[in-house]
Amino acid sequence: MGPRPGLHVIATARRPEVLAELAELGMSTVALDVTDAESIKKCHDEVAKINGGKLDILVNNAGRTHTHPALDISLPDVRATFETNVFSIMAMVQAFIDQLIAARGLIINISSLSSIGPYLFGSVYCASKAAVCAYSRTLRLELAPFGVRVMVSMTGTVRSNTASQGHRVLPEGSLYRRVKHIFEWRLVFSQNSSTMDTATFARKLVADSLRSETPGWLRSVFGRPDWFWYGGLARSAWFGHTLGEWVVDAVSWNKFRMPEIMKLIGEDAAQKKRL
Ligand SMILES: NC(=O)c1ccc[n+]([C@@H]2O[C@H](COP(=O)([O-])OP(=O)(O)OC[C@H]3O[C@@H](n4cnc5c(N)ncnc54)[C@H](OP(=O)(O)O)[C@@H]3O)[C@@H](O)[C@H]2O)c1
Repeated sequence: MGPRPGLHVIATARRPEVLAELAELGMSTVALDVTDAESIKKCHDEVAKINGGKLDILVNNAGRTHTHPALDISLPDVRATFETNVFSIMAMVQAFIDQLIAARGLIINISSLSSIGPYLFGSVYCASKAAVCAYSRTLRLELAPFGVRVMVSMTGTVRSNTASQGHRVLPEGSLYRRVKHIFEWRLVFSQNSSTMDTATFARKLVADSLRSETPGWLRSVFGRPDWFWYGGLARSAWFGHTLGEWVVDAVSWNKFRMPEIMKLIGEDAAQKKRL
């Protein structure tokens, strides 16, 4: 999708070929690896040259999926996910706050529905996205005196390259080998479950980010201001979450094929007992 008329988009990416594609769409482009402090600093200075030191909106979108049973994770891998999904946002906010205050701007942090529900084999991803939500809620208070707003996207399923990132595998001896097929189904879940077209998602996020925050009465009763629930499954997740955590837990039990898992792993245990 090209940039919306009237907005000057400064797109960042870490790969030169991606930057070239974005430039072709008419955006300014700046290289950025969000996990590299030096790269963030360089990006900050280049962006300041383009926008004269005023940044209206900072979108923290870079992310890494992490699908692996909690019993099979490796901590260096977990740390890398937190670097990309959580610590990079903290670093970007600190680095760009001068330009955001100058513009009385807005920060958009891309979180996920997985932050509010159990997402089978996604404990690390869920934890990283829940951290983004918790961080953002408090950041919102701390930045209010400076006129900088914080918006969180409770992103549902959206078409992207996320499921083609390198997949983790179940290690030899994993207690989940009996349900390998469910693990593999889950690896691509976000791309096969009411998945929303990318441009539809992006258009709505842009439109909502340009709205003023003055809460309509419905918004103030039913939702925290500037919490953006959109994408596949987002509406039902919002509804379940609003009714209570137990609803999300109950629905997730079936959605993530727990009855089948209980049966297969139970059978496995019974077989081992017999041997
Ligand atoms: N798609 C969904 O269903 C969904 C649902 C909920 C939340 N989200 C969130 O949406 C955001 C975008 O993800 P996506 O689904 O669009 O997946 P994606 O297609 O894999 O996009 C992730 C992007 O992050 C970039 N990135 C990763 N590490 C980076 C780094 N260190 N520095 C700079 N860029 C980096 C990747 O760049 P490279 O191409 O160079 O790796 C890639 O462009 C993520 O925060 C994700 O968690 C997505």
